[in-house]
Amino acid sequence: MENTNSYISGIGSYLPSQILTNKDLEKMVDTTDEWIVTRTGIKKRHISTKEEATSDLATKASLLAIEDAKISSEEIEMIIVATSTPDMMLPSTATRVQKNIGAKNASAFDISAACSGFIYGLSVAHQFIINGTMKNVLVVGAETLSKYVDWSDRNTSVLFGDGAGAAVVSRNNIGSKIIGFHLGANGNPPREWLMLAGSGSVNKAENILEEKKNFITMNGKEIFKFSVNILPSIITTVIKKYGLTIEDIDLVIPHQANRRIIEAAAERLNMPIQKLYINIDRRANTSAASIPIAMVDARRENMLNKEDIIVLAGFGAGLTWGSMLIQY
Ligand SMILES: CC(C)(COP(=O)(O)OP(=O)(O)OC[C@H]1O[C@@H](n2cnc3c(N)ncnc32)[C@H](O)[C@@H]1OP(=O)(O)O)[C@@H](O)C(=O)NCCC(=O)NCCS
Repeated sequence: MENTNSYISGIGSYLPSQILTNKDLEKMVDTTDEWIVTRTGIKKRHISTKEEATSDLATKASLLAIEDAKISSEEIEMIIVATSTPDMMLPSTATRVQKNIGAKNASAFDISAACSGFIYGLSVAHQFIINGTMKNVLVVGAETLSKYVDWSDRNTSVLFGDGAGAAVVSRNNIGSKIIGFHLGANGNPPREWLMLAGSGSVNKAENILEEKKNFITMNGKEIFKFSVNILPSIITTVIKKYGLTIEDIDLVIPHQANRRIIEAAAERLNMPIQKLYINIDRRANTSAASIPIAMVDARRENMLNKEDIIVLAGFGAGLTWGSMLIQY
């Protein structure tokens, strides 16, 4: 098999129609719109209905990405769903998406890498394309975090939202060329820094509700410190790795965790803030879905121009991180 290049040939996103504003949250917890906007940049978030599963959001984003790539579902050879809020522990959310979109020729599996999951997924897809074994791989980031938020906990409830974004990675020479990537992880810090313990092997299923293990818990200060360091670092690393400089970069599409984290990165990198895409005001933190949703939003706002050099950068629980360099 010959070595080839890989391209993001189509993207799509889906946000549930229900919207929860900061004003709505003021009625639910001891918080204010002013506090949330000042500390995070978030004004509102999309929330899935009781009936909407992560795979439902993922399916809608996937169909749009496949249409955008101008291929049929049957041409997809692999489906990778990055999520921390899967439909179930078993089977995978990806197999549900495979059924829903009719991708009968695709293998399917989930990736658990928190907010870095979409970049991890793109990097895996990239391998199957560049080594010539596949022509089209679908990568999805999808989350229904609202189902795992303790709505009485103001430390976490103001931060998260639901949504899905998808990308088709192809070898068809159409779309954004993947230049390269950088991935990393550090499992040493306490899991408690950012955790959704749930019904994993560590916790007895019968104690989950009583011990509130069904909710996201977070040490905001530690995660903030980690994030403000890792974001500029992974952007610089991937740029240097492929022989470029900060001046070569037209746009950074970072994971949307907190506006202040993105602003701190811009300052550290000496980049104008306009070069870092921000949509956290209306999307909040959608974890693995945040980067592909931001890609679609940025395109809609005409912020992506042909040949632009773009950095995608994700970081999150684990701890995990990943950055990718693409040429639009
Ligand atoms: C969560 C986060 C926004 C908190 O911001 P912060 O500036 O660190 O705020 P602090 O935790 O120091 O709290 C400051 C004060 O606001 C209060 N506060 C916390 N949450 C609040 C809320 N939702 N509304 C109003 N007040 C709140 C605190 O109780 C504290 O009050 P005190 O000074 O009287 O003790 C911030 O730490 C953060 O963004 N962390 C990273 C989160 C993240 O990105 N997670 C996902 C990573 S992928």
